[in-house]
Amino acid sequence: MTSRSSAATELSCAAESGAMAAQLSASHATADWVLVSTDTSLPAGKGVTAWVDDVELAIFRVGDDWLAIDGRCPHKGASLAEGCVEGGSVSCPWHGWGFDLRTGACDRTPAALRTFAVRADEAGLWLDRSPLSQPRAPIVAANDGIQRVLVRYGTLGWVGVFGTVNSLNCQHRDWVVVQSDRGTELGEVLADPSKPISSTSKPTGELLRVAAPDEQVVHRNRQNLVEQALAVAKRLCESKSLPVEFVDGEVLFDGETLVLYYLGEFQADFAELRTRLAIGLSMSRVDVHPLIEPVGGGCGSGGCGSCASH
Ligand code: FES
Repeated sequence: MTSRSSAATELSCAAESGAMAAQLSASHATADWVLVSTDTSLPAGKGVTAWVDDVELAIFRVGDDWLAIDGRCPHKGASLAEGCVEGGSVSCPWHGWGFDLRTGACDRTPAALRTFAVRADEAGLWLDRSPLSQPRAPIVAANDGIQRVLVRYGTLGWVGVFGTVNSLNCQHRDWVVVQSDRGTELGEVLADPSKPISSTSKPTGELLRVAAPDEQVVHRNRQNLVEQALAVAKRLCESKSLPVEFVDGEVLFDGETLVLYYLGEFQADFAELRTRLAIGLSMSRVDVHPLIEPVGGGCGSGGCGSCASH
């Protein structure tokens, strides 16, 4: 039997600080067993990468047990040894797919990882490499470092693909914070984030994080200001006989940006309206958008009236 002579391995856990590295080697084997490390000091709940026959494997210490699975996540290829171990499962550090360390079963896909028996003795850590003859679960998609998630955001229900280079563990229907061209917004995840979106699609904006429940409450409570703003806009339109109707609005997640939507033509008097609303409602920015024009479709200069802000 042959095995890779040595390999540097690295371990980290997103929920914990620091990182540890281990040098593993496959230097001796009997039957189907191969010695992968002379170091058996890995703490419980930790994982480490080992290479056997040029195949990357992830070995974990779970209580008094040693468990091993294929080392690369079948989603986009993250190193599973760097995942967090809990209750006999490991969560992938990139997108949170979970894998049972005893069966290899995944909570997101029917394709199971191979599992490998591991034992420790005075010589070190031994791994039964016989499962290597079985086919490995294929990688679903090549990783370009960007996780893309379909998100609905804004009162009018815009839908965009938001990306992040950080591994974000979000689920379908989760509420997330995104950065659009309008500012920081609250959005809802529309599809299963574990299903890859074309890696060539340019993200609409950045996926920042999952929104905490109390943040969602604060954000929704802020929407009470919209009715006040619409009332101010209606009075202004009536007093000046403007042929415009303000129909909806929203306060963005930052709590400082108010957006109102109107039917009709752009009016020079919108400048006065924005000033009144900014002062009256303590908003640092007030935008007005025609309802028929997609948000973000203004001239971008900040001066066309569609995208101008106070
Ligand atoms: S790479 Fe593992 S869940 Fe995406």
